Amino acid sequence: MNIILLGPPGAGKGTQSAGLVERHGMKQLSTGDMLRAAVKAGTPVGLKAKAVMDAGGLVSDDIVADLIDAELAAMDAETGAIFDGYPRTASQAETLDSILAKHNRSLDHVVELSVDEDALVERITGRFSCANCGALYHDTANAPAKEGVCDTCGCTEFKRRPDDNEETVRHRMSVYRAETAPILPGYETRGIVTRVDGMAGIGEVATAIDAVLA
Ligand code: AP5
Repeated sequence: MNIILLGPPGAGKGTQSAGLVERHGMKQLSTGDMLRAAVKAGTPVGLKAKAVMDAGGLVSDDIVADLIDAELAAMDAETGAIFDGYPRTASQAETLDSILAKHNRSLDHVVELSVDEDALVERITGRFSCANCGALYHDTANAPAKEGVCDTCGCTEFKRRPDDNEETVRHRMSVYRAETAPILPGYETRGIVTRVDGMAGIGEVATAIDAVLA
């Protein structure tokens, strides 16, 4: 099973990917996470990507295609892939089809998380993650059970993303509307798109996605 989770910044792609990994043993392929790891490691890719990411723009199609190709090459054929934040342009959508064919895979579902954009700024500016394991939290909607302690690994250090400020978030949303939303009709023509209400609670969204995959 290979699926795309599609939705604007803060729609819940990362949160729902983590749940799918846990419940179904799938692998999350988040280009955002891969790029942040490259920035942290100071690799040539990271050095190219940092300023673009901080400004909320899109890094080049070639860079993200190489990252996805390398991840799929390293995966077992039986493990399903969750594409989180990829593809983001018409050209990336075309490239993904070629990369999947190269690895003898095909797309089963595109799950679109529909959300109210006004609520997303609040979601994103309240987001933080565990500095050790990366578990995602929110100041009010999804705080750790014990304040200051990660539910998953017990770490007490947390971090916030440099691109999670209101100005950059609004720019990322406009990039989503201009570059990413237009790829949906192509998948609709293939009959593989299901819309899920991303404004529901995290557990309800997970149940709705599981129903799509069943
Ligand atoms: P990326 O990391 O992919 O960011 P994004 O797409 O903007 O999405 P986010 O990670 O912000 O949101 P999300 O939908 O995962 O929401 P989350 O689950 O965290 O990309 C970052 C940058 O990298 C891009 O701007 C670009 O520069 C570059 N990049 C990445 N991929 C690229 C590509 N393919 N091509 C070119 N450039 C690329 O949830 C958000 C918050 O809400 C959390 O706090 C969470 O706890 C909370 N929450 C989640 N679900 C709910 C819910 N149902 N109810 C209440 N709160 C919720």
